[in-house]
Amino acid sequence: MNTPNIAKEDILNAFNYRHATKEFDANKTLTDDQINFILKTANLSPSSFGFEPWHFVVVQDKELRELLKPVAWGAPLKLDTASHFILGLSMKAPMVKHDAAYIEHMMKDVKQLPEDVIDMYSKFYREFQERDFNLDTDKKLFDWSSKQTYIALGNMMTAAALAGIDSCPIEGFHQEKAEALLREKFGIDTDKYGLSFMAAFGYRKAAPEFPKSRRALEDIVTWK
Ligand SMILES: Cc1cc2nc3c(=O)[nH]c(=O)nc-3n(C[C@H](O)[C@H](O)[C@H](O)COP(=O)(O)O)c2cc1C
Repeated sequence: MNTPNIAKEDILNAFNYRHATKEFDANKTLTDDQINFILKTANLSPSSFGFEPWHFVVVQDKELRELLKPVAWGAPLKLDTASHFILGLSMKAPMVKHDAAYIEHMMKDVKQLPEDVIDMYSKFYREFQERDFNLDTDKKLFDWSSKQTYIALGNMMTAAALAGIDSCPIEGFHQEKAEALLREKFGIDTDKYGLSFMAAFGYRKAAPEFPKSRRALEDIVTWK
């Protein structure tokens, strides 16, 4: 593996180029290689304790996309025009509570940690949840998982921009209604997974309507 050496100007150019694309060019699609590259950056994203509390559903079926429209006010135009449309799911308590089978599976089978390290890790993780971060409700645990899944979202959008691919993150949906739909029509176990975000990928139909606006760097950074 080489040490990356991408010019800062190229990276910043990609950050400036990325914008929340309101409408995509419906005639342009990403290749399998391109969407797999984007998904791979989600896969390689960091997460707290490395537990990867996420799942991504790529919705290419037109009928399923139609079903999402009534519960996602921020998405209809993207559902109609985006090349690829992703649902970002995050794990709920039965998956990520310190004593969950999934957590043991991650430590044992994915990370292949030795028994004594698993014991130590389990203790840290329990203390983190119960004492440090006070993750004592189902809602708090889901929100904590969501924080991790948003890191993957950011990476997917940035990676896409670096490859000249457009995206739009979407929180414009009714969470309860959307999850009911996922349960009934998408075969998602919503006791285990909740919907954190939607994200559309493709190619912009037109240049952004407004120039990028941001607060000054000095207003968001304090040096001590
Ligand atoms: C978590 C999240 C949710 C968002 N939800 C929506 C949405 O539902 N619909 C939409 O058109 N834009 C959505 N946006 C896009 C933001 O409005 C946009 O990123 C912001 O105005 C800054 O503009 P820029 O991304 O073009 O630089 C969302 C952005 C984020 C990060």
